[in-house]
Amino acid sequence: MNSKSLKGLALCASILGFSIPAHAADTELKIFVSSQHHPEVWRKTFDQYEARTPGVKITIEPGGNTSEAQAQYLNTVMSAKDTTLDVLMLDVIRPAQYAAAGWTSEFQAKDIEKFLPTYTEANTVDKKVVAVPAFADAMFLYYRKDLLDKYGVQPPKTWDELAAAAKKITEGEGRPDLQGLSFQGKAIEGAVCTFLLPYWSQGKTLVENGKLNFDHAAAVKSLSLWKSFVDNGVAKKNISEVATDDTRKEFQAGNVVFAINWSYGWSSFQGKDSAVVGKVDVARLPAVAGGDQATCLGGWEFGVSAYSKHQEEAKKFVGYISSPEVSKYMAVNGALLPTYADLYTDADVVKAAPWFANALPVVETAKARPVTPRYNEVSETIRTTVNAVLAGVTSPEEGATQIEARLKRILR
Ligand code: GLC
Repeated sequence: MNSKSLKGLALCASILGFSIPAHAADTELKIFVSSQHHPEVWRKTFDQYEARTPGVKITIEPGGNTSEAQAQYLNTVMSAKDTTLDVLMLDVIRPAQYAAAGWTSEFQAKDIEKFLPTYTEANTVDKKVVAVPAFADAMFLYYRKDLLDKYGVQPPKTWDELAAAAKKITEGEGRPDLQGLSFQGKAIEGAVCTFLLPYWSQGKTLVENGKLNFDHAAAVKSLSLWKSFVDNGVAKKNISEVATDDTRKEFQAGNVVFAINWSYGWSSFQGKDSAVVGKVDVARLPAVAGGDQATCLGGWEFGVSAYSKHQEEAKKFVGYISSPEVSKYMAVNGALLPTYADLYTDADVVKAAPWFANALPVVETAKARPVTPRYNEVSETIRTTVNAVLAGVTSPEEGATQIEARLKRILR
């Protein structure tokens, strides 16, 4: 019996004065999906789930385009114990906070064993599995292979090499609208990673065993590096207004030589609206001279809302959308990095994104942002300061002092 005739039957029954229990046909699961990460491609996997699970209907609640915009929305919904969301796609920085707030329900240990260990760890809080991985992520250096070849330039290994290469190419091309480097300077979550990349590259850590381990000189050097790119024309003057997807769009339009971005951009660069099809390659991010190449661990997770009225159905659904089958589908069709090690060298995956074949060690050695229930405050401190330095409102020296003072209070 289909759901229409079931509803008809329920209506007749209620007119006759008795009720029949709702059939599984009426289970509607609402999933909160990041708008930046190809919701239209995720939708196809949800359709597949609906097709194989009669009686369950999946609807998408679109999340905002940046991680912190989504966090703001979810904070309101979850604080109100709202029951409308069943599954939440969460940035990797959130599970600890959500677990502390009691907003996600627990999975079983066996649900998490098969994933990349980095993500098993990120989703396990106090020995409890609070979410399961949706896709992996890290920051990479996208570059215009055609332009580097034209000027005989190798992908840079240090930030100084990058600045020199960017200058050579932009001056050679003589196009005022061609940017040497695009990165995230807006006060968004991505700017936390902007700060940390050169900081980590100097061999420093921010937090050790839950305690602040701030290196003032390394912080000044990081902030000065980014500011120098603005001052010497490697990056555009208003980089303080640039968010992740702005970098993606400007690179896609052919107006950027080097771009720092996450994996999702790749599929857009291959698409029909792209001016750079066949001209792009991807490398590890450069290092501070004398330091190590470092990148920021990203990724998104599926949590089941503690307030969902469909706990079992929601977990079953998450079981499917976190499966190797779906991880592969999202890698091939949305360039989202797989959460299973062997998919990085899968023939179909490598055909769609050849650079994934070398991406596994980058993800495995990527560094995590601090894990703390007070992450929102840590993030806000760093991203607003990075933004103020790039806008020229605060000096790198003052910026480092402010970050240190505020983080000391937050992480004491
Ligand atoms: C990417 C990463 C995520 C990060 C965000 C910052 O989506 O996967 O972890 O926080 O970018 O903009």
